[in-house]
Amino acid sequence: MVKICCIGAGYVGGPTMAVIAVKCPAIEVVVVDISKPRIDAWNSDKLPIYEPGLDEVVKACRGKNLFFSTDVEKHVAEADIIFVSVNTPTKTRGLGAGKAADLTYWESAARMIADVSKSDKIVVEKSTVPVKTAEAIEKILTHNSKGINYQILSNPEFLAEGTAIEDLFKPDRVLIGGRETPEGRKAVQALKEVYAHWVPEENIITTNLWSAELSKLAANAFLAQRISSVNAMSALCEATGANVSEVSYAIGKDSRIGPKFLNASVGFGGSCFQKDILNLVYICECNGLPEVANYWKQVIKINDYQKSRFVNRVVSSMFNTVSGKKVAILGFAFKKDTGDTRETPAIDVCKGLLGDKAHVSIYDPEVTEDQIQRDLAMNKFDWDHPMHLQPASPSAIKQELDYQKIFDNMQKPAFIFDGRNVVDAEKLRGIGFIVYSIGKPLDAWLKDMPAIA
Ligand code: NAI
Repeated sequence: MVKICCIGAGYVGGPTMAVIAVKCPAIEVVVVDISKPRIDAWNSDKLPIYEPGLDEVVKACRGKNLFFSTDVEKHVAEADIIFVSVNTPTKTRGLGAGKAADLTYWESAARMIADVSKSDKIVVEKSTVPVKTAEAIEKILTHNSKGINYQILSNPEFLAEGTAIEDLFKPDRVLIGGRETPEGRKAVQALKEVYAHWVPEENIITTNLWSAELSKLAANAFLAQRISSVNAMSALCEATGANVSEVSYAIGKDSRIGPKFLNASVGFGGSCFQKDILNLVYICECNGLPEVANYWKQVIKINDYQKSRFVNRVVSSMFNTVSGKKVAILGFAFKKDTGDTRETPAIDVCKGLLGDKAHVSIYDPEVTEDQIQRDLAMNKFDWDHPMHLQPASPSAIKQELDYQKIFDNMQKPAFIFDGRNVVDAEKLRGIGFIVYSIGKPLDAWLKDMPAIA
């Protein structure tokens, strides 16, 4: 029986290992973490993260071939394949602060593997890491190797929060990078056999280590770039009377462009896009490629611009001040179907409004009040330092909003600012609201109150 151990029971480690366990009943999978509350939650009825379908998968195999434990060393020592899925946040101080990935957690995991291992291991990079990390990890593992053979593989995770289980069941591709030696190829094959239980062979791509590591950073940079590109267009649409939804549809019909990831919004969030692009920028700078670094930096700049543009729009439309005005924020996580608030654009929007002394009330069915308070008190990049602890989500019952009732109870003129282009703007205008939708033709009111970006 193959034994797998995964270090890090977070948004990636938990769901990924649960799916491996459910698809491979003959493999024993143990997910370990240094955070006891996290492991306790994985072993309870209220899992530490919310993902549609996750509860069912965990229930189907927990206690059979899927286990969650804080006994990190024991399970690492027993495993044949070790996935490392610890957090790799942006460094907040020292060399490369604000850009480089902080590999402290990774390094301590690698040192622990080296200390406790008594047999040969395949060590899989599941975390997103800078290209060439495997070389450093190899050095740590073999430094005091006691004759143990380690094979390092890069197997970046492409799941998206909110659709993690669906993505893991039917991945567009699985990517495995390894050393181009007979031992390296053997290790790649061993991991390939795990995925082959449910992923068609043609969707399992094998490459060299550096291509696999870099592909993850490149994929996130390309995805975020599409959002920043369409968001840049949304500003131009508002200035010209074009409608960004029509523009996206028209360009997305071009098969070379494609329709996905072209929705204008208040900006991207989440724990990965910004962090990984900053990391890419840093790697480019370290490799003497400032032009390439600046090119990707622009993706982040447009994202910041879009968030401040939104805040400016709110403030300018309400007579250039929101001081003392009541603002309800619906939704705080970085997108729907998740309770994850790391780098959510809502933080910047709320901070902007609070800065202008608005009275802000925030609601999200998957996020607790405590979490929101903590997020709003944090400095930039502090969100993953030290390890955050996602509280069990409240999962409030989702209900339809009665906009007529809301309108009746609001001061007039009543405004709705839609940061995701999800409301039925025409219907709401019918009720009497002034509605701002990103990148869409502006109401007469908003045209008269131009936002200063
Ligand atoms: P997370 O912060 O939710 O989970 C990481 C876990 O690792 C924490 O529970 C922490 O306690 C644990 N940990 C840290 N050091 C440890 C150690 N030495 N021993 C045992 N446990 C340790 O992070 P998340 O979101 O799961 O991300 C993990 C990695 O996967 C990151 O590199 C991230 O960039 C990458 N990734 C994240 C995706 C996402 O959607 N969240 C998607 C794809 C990749």
